[in-house]
Amino acid sequence: MDMQYIAGLEERLGIGFDAANVPQHVAIVMDGNGRWAKQRGLGRSAGHRAGVEALEGIVEACRKMDVRYLTVYAFSTENWRRPLAEVNTLMSLLSEFAANKLTRLRDNQVRVQILGDFDGLPLLQRAALQRLMDATDHCRGLQLNLALNYGGRAEILRALKQAAADMTPEELQRMTEEDFGGYLHTAGQPDPDLLIRTSGEIRLSNFLLWQLAYAEFYFTDVLWPDFDEAEFFRAVCSYQQRSRRFGAVEPGSTD
Ligand code: IPE
Ligand code: IPE
Ligand code: MG
Repeated sequence: MDMQYIAGLEERLGIGFDAANVPQHVAIVMDGNGRWAKQRGLGRSAGHRAGVEALEGIVEACRKMDVRYLTVYAFSTENWRRPLAEVNTLMSLLSEFAANKLTRLRDNQVRVQILGDFDGLPLLQRAALQRLMDATDHCRGLQLNLALNYGGRAEILRALKQAAADMTPEELQRMTEEDFGGYLHTAGQPDPDLLIRTSGEIRLSNFLLWQLAYAEFYFTDVLWPDFDEAEFFRAVCSYQQRSRRFGAVEPGSTD
């Protein structure tokens, strides 16, 4: 953890940070690129471009705060419904991101993985992303999950079908929640502790439906391209104020 960086933000924002209570896994619905661009009289693609830069800043912040997993919603299975020109822009930005940020991510010990229907992405994007995944596979600082062509329901259904194909009916009957988690794209990773959604929308939009069962939610009106390290710090500090009971009661509570 970069204590000097933390101290700088504490002072600048006037909020205290608890180094012993950092969320291990943060998930983010990066929303509001289109509205950010519109406010500036720009086209939506300018918003998406600015959104990529914002992501880079948050990745760096996660490294400095010792967050171990960051999952970002970059393209949903429903986003194919957008106009073809916008889908094409998003796909180009994706392969650009994969190529241009590879060295930086690798040097910063960021391991990139894709959550979603990878095979349903265009060939060019798959090739660029595969290179990025291979190049960062050995990195152990932060795991960055890019949710791409991702839908929570599709993920659950796919897991169910795979489990049913792998198991006898008896084994299927004995399957635990933990076993089932092993069939999801996030197999082997802890569930998110904190979910952030920017741009004032208060919904999940089919994101990590299984994994968010006990996450703390943080919603902000800030549009994604404006979501910087200070906003991220605020979100983490808000998380640190929550009492996570997981259905139980506060330790030390009396009857
Ligand atoms: C989020 O920004 C990026 C993607 C969904 C890919 P939007 O494009 O949804 O921006 P708004 O919601 O229209 O402002
Ligand atoms: C969710 O945002 C998907 C991503 C951020 C990639 P949307 O902008 O697509 O969600 P809705 O349409 O507002 O629910
Ligand atoms: Mg949106």
